[in-house]
Amino acid sequence: LKLKEKVDRAPKAELHIHIEGSLEPELIFSLAERNGITLPYSSVESLQAAYAFTSLQSFLDIYYAGASVLIHEEDFYDMTCAYVDQALDNGIIHSEIFFDPQTHTVRGVSMETMLAGIERGLAEGEKRGLSSRLILCFLRHLSEEDALRTFNQALPYFEQYAHRLIGIGLDSSELGHPPAKFARVFSQALGRKMRLVAHAGEEGPVSYIYEALDILRVERIDHGVRCLEDPQLVERLAQSRIALTVCPLSNLKLCVFDSLSDHNLKTLLEKGVAVTVNSDDPAYFGGHVNQNYRALIDALDLTEQQCYTLLRNSLEASFISDDKRQAMY
Ligand code: ADE
Ligand code: ZN
Repeated sequence: LKLKEKVDRAPKAELHIHIEGSLEPELIFSLAERNGITLPYSSVESLQAAYAFTSLQSFLDIYYAGASVLIHEEDFYDMTCAYVDQALDNGIIHSEIFFDPQTHTVRGVSMETMLAGIERGLAEGEKRGLSSRLILCFLRHLSEEDALRTFNQALPYFEQYAHRLIGIGLDSSELGHPPAKFARVFSQALGRKMRLVAHAGEEGPVSYIYEALDILRVERIDHGVRCLEDPQLVERLAQSRIALTVCPLSNLKLCVFDSLSDHNLKTLLEKGVAVTVNSDDPAYFGGHVNQNYRALIDALDLTEQQCYTLLRNSLEASFISDDKRQAMY
């Protein structure tokens, strides 16, 4: 069997996927129609033509427009079921899924509605062999007060959905919104023993990675590719085995790297950093996890050993218990 086929079939975890970023253009249009929403695009093709991003912000503008079709529990359920199908097709046995509640509450959609729909889809996924957890992400372009309000609103659901909803993250526009802005809400979550992650060092500077580690006390860094600018930080990440959830096709589409052959994933791996491969927003960036692996194998000439390290890292950096992890191997 060729390496790409082996990797396709290998059991793996996905640790960086925004559920709203799994919404395919066809589903955006059918949900818009179902909900009587007029999109600023006349067809699936004209929407897809807008997927020519120059930066994180140029993507986020369209990503939030796409998410605006999600109104009812059934919409969140349909989106989640479509992701579950794709995940199982990609050999994913465990997924830690981000959702952005503020994107929906601002449109009058309740926390209850979104979580009920997502949970119903994920519960069905469990029966089909996809283990999953949810991570609630705060939008960093909004204020910390807004994040704290959202956190308090979510607290009953952290109890009701304790088996699924295990932690918090930080996403959206990175530049100008350092992790330290969210120190209080992360400290409250830490006090409640929640799992903590944050996007840092995607477009933002190395100092944001330090803040995520030292102020927010995160257990993984989402993206983190700019750490390579600081050898001491690379050393610290390698020593502590704090994983980076790297998203190669996302980095390419958002112009973090000019070409995939310029991507630093292989270098990070060679320096002993616990790198993982993830899709970020698969509907927008041209593929799920297996397409990310396939593109990397071509661009960086990854060895079989390196692919196995990446696959193993994905399971080891996940938040499943050690007992459950052993059972998965
Ligand atoms: N929201 C969805 N995808 C994101 C990314 N790659 N960076 C920041 N926020 C996001
Ligand atoms: Zn992301």
